[in-house]
Amino acid sequence: MRSSSAARRKQKLKRLKNKSVLLGVTGGVAAFKAADLIRRLKDVGASVTVMMTEAAKQFITPLSLQVASQNTVYTSVFQDPLTHISLPALADVMVIAPATANIIAKLANGIADDILSTAFLAYQGPVVIAPSMNGKMFEHPIFQENLKRLLSFGIRQVGPESGTLACGEEGKGRLADVPDIVDSVIAAVTPQDLKGRKIVVTAGPTREHLDPVRFLSNRSSGKMGFSIARAAWIRGAAVVLISGPTALKSPSGVILRQVDTAAQMLRAVTEETDKDASVLIMAAAVADFRPHLQARTKAAKDNIDSLVLDRTQDIIAHVAAQKKKPFVIGFAAETGGKLERAKQKMQRKKMDMIVFNDVTEIGAGFESDTNNVVILDRKGSAKTGLLSKDEIADAILDRYLKIKT
Ligand SMILES: Cc1cc2nc3c(=O)[nH]c(=O)nc-3n(C[C@H](O)[C@H](O)[C@H](O)COP(=O)(O)O)c2cc1C
Repeated sequence: MRSSSAARRKQKLKRLKNKSVLLGVTGGVAAFKAADLIRRLKDVGASVTVMMTEAAKQFITPLSLQVASQNTVYTSVFQDPLTHISLPALADVMVIAPATANIIAKLANGIADDILSTAFLAYQGPVVIAPSMNGKMFEHPIFQENLKRLLSFGIRQVGPESGTLACGEEGKGRLADVPDIVDSVIAAVTPQDLKGRKIVVTAGPTREHLDPVRFLSNRSSGKMGFSIARAAWIRGAAVVLISGPTALKSPSGVILRQVDTAAQMLRAVTEETDKDASVLIMAAAVADFRPHLQARTKAAKDNIDSLVLDRTQDIIAHVAAQKKKPFVIGFAAETGGKLERAKQKMQRKKMDMIVFNDVTEIGAGFESDTNNVVILDRKGSAKTGLLSKDEIADAILDRYLKIKT
């Protein structure tokens, strides 16, 4: 039998637990992605009820979405009288994905001529729209006016993305990635307790080059920093994520600055923290050393006997010395339980908080989806136990807010 901690490690953070999502699907070529969207919404704990327009039924069958949602699918106001009132009354959030140019025009002007547009008018909670269409349709000034008007009522927009569209043209109009739509739905029902704050997060490793093909680096996957950036964005912060090379995709609402070396990361952090940042969270594993000489062409191995290394500049110490410095949160990845060392590091580098983790523990540290940390600040410490990196991210942000509010 698996241990309970092993089971917990597998568990995803159910950010939509007990939430009822009313999903509107309209007649765009991306309508088939609604099935995947439903699966992912359910994956994070939501129950999903689907409404479809007549045109949407040309692209995906109600039966497919009934199977995916395990719920009745509504396609007409006359199918079950008064559901256009009762469905919105039960929903915590409404999401329309894909949202056609037509539905956006209708919603912006209060037209209620089908189940979706009528339920929309009867709904008073948060709404997310994911527009998707041909690039020329998206750019059309009348569409843009309609979209602007709709957004002025406090509706959230996610996407569209640029790239090759279903019609074969290049342009802006592709449906946002499904995980980004899910994140927007989560943000719409999450208290925006970080609204008005700019949070700068660093993530991933840096690379220190010997020559054009070789570099020194470390095992950081970037997962912890990306989880923090995503959690802060979901809670309403304006987030800049400065990341070394990783295989991860940045959440769509986060501004991503990609860097390579420690020197580039220092420059990006300095630029971003100079511009009114409330918090700097240094989750990146910045290289401590770089090769003294960096060759422009590949060095022959026979010419390398040993490497001479220089220290890289300490980013946290640099920021802590700034006149107007943000709240600084550092990380201490240690091998073994050297908590006291982390405490000294926090004090020496004038950090406001440090997150200590022992990377040799099972389920903690590099590449893992979970972590087990101690959060230390000037007032005390808190152990999180083994949690997903998403939960650890929330715990760090909670502790920051407790100190700063
Ligand atoms: C093959 C095909 C693909 C379409 N794709 C889109 C699309 O991606 N976005 C869009 O706004 N309209 C698209 N349309 C046009 C809509 O289906 C049409 O405007 C329809 O009236 C939308 O109705 P609805 O908003 O009630 O679902 C497409 C039409 C066809 C025939």
